[in-house]
Amino acid sequence: MRDDVRRRPADTFAAREPRTPEEWDAYYTARWQWLRAPLGQPRGSERDKHEGSAVHRAVFDAHGAVLAVGRLHLIDAANARVRYVASAPACRRLGHGRTVMNVLEAAARRLGVRRVYLHARRDVVSFYLRLGYRATGAAPALYGTLAQTMMEKQITPRR
Ligand SMILES: CC(C)(COP(=O)(O)OP(=O)(O)OC[C@H]1O[C@@H](n2cnc3c(N)ncnc32)[C@H](O)[C@@H]1OP(=O)(O)O)[C@@H](O)C(=O)NCCC(=O)NCCS
Repeated sequence: MRDDVRRRPADTFAAREPRTPEEWDAYYTARWQWLRAPLGQPRGSERDKHEGSAVHRAVFDAHGAVLAVGRLHLIDAANARVRYVASAPACRRLGHGRTVMNVLEAAARRLGVRRVYLHARRDVVSFYLRLGYRATGAAPALYGTLAQTMMEKQITPRR
C-alpha cells in the first residue's frame, strides 16, 4: 500500500462494519496479526463466542486495506465490553485507534449503554486514558502472563 494513503489524517477515514466476505476476512486477519500472532497464538484465537452479536468496526483506507479494528459486545442492558482494539503497526499514532473507539462508543450509546469497560494491556493504558477511560484495578492477565488493567468510561445513552 502507498505510504501517502496510510498517512492521511484519520478524519479522512470512516470506521464502519466490514461488508463483504473479503472485508470480514481482512478484519479478522488484522485482529489475529496485530493482537494474537505477536503472542504466539494460533489463527482462531482472534475470535470468541460473541462475534455473532457484537458490534464490529474497522477503518479501511481508500484501497480497502484495514488500518484499525475494534469490537464491542453487550454484557447487560447498561454495560458493554470493548475487545480486539488495534491499529496497523505501520500507521499508529495517526488517530485510527481513536476513530475506532469513538464509533464503538457511539454504537454503545445508541444501544442504551451507560458504561463501557475493557482490559487494557499495560503498555496501552495511556491510550485509553487519553480517550477518557479510568483505571479501576488489575484485570486477569491475558493468557495468564500478559498484565492487564481494568478500565472503564461512563457514557450517556442516546436513543
Ligand atoms: C493501542 C493502539 C490501538 C493505539 O492506536 P493508535 O492508532 O496508535 O492510537 P491513536 O493514534 O488514535 O492515539 C490516540 C491518542 O492516544 C495516544 N496514544 C496512542 N498509543 C499510545 C501509547 N501506546 N501510549 C501512550 N499514548 C498513546 C496518541 O498519542 C493519541 O494522543 P492525543 O490525544 O494526544 O492525540 C495501538 O497502539 C495498537 O494497536 N497497539 C497494539 C495492540 C494493542 O495493544 N491493542 C490494545 C489491546 S488492550
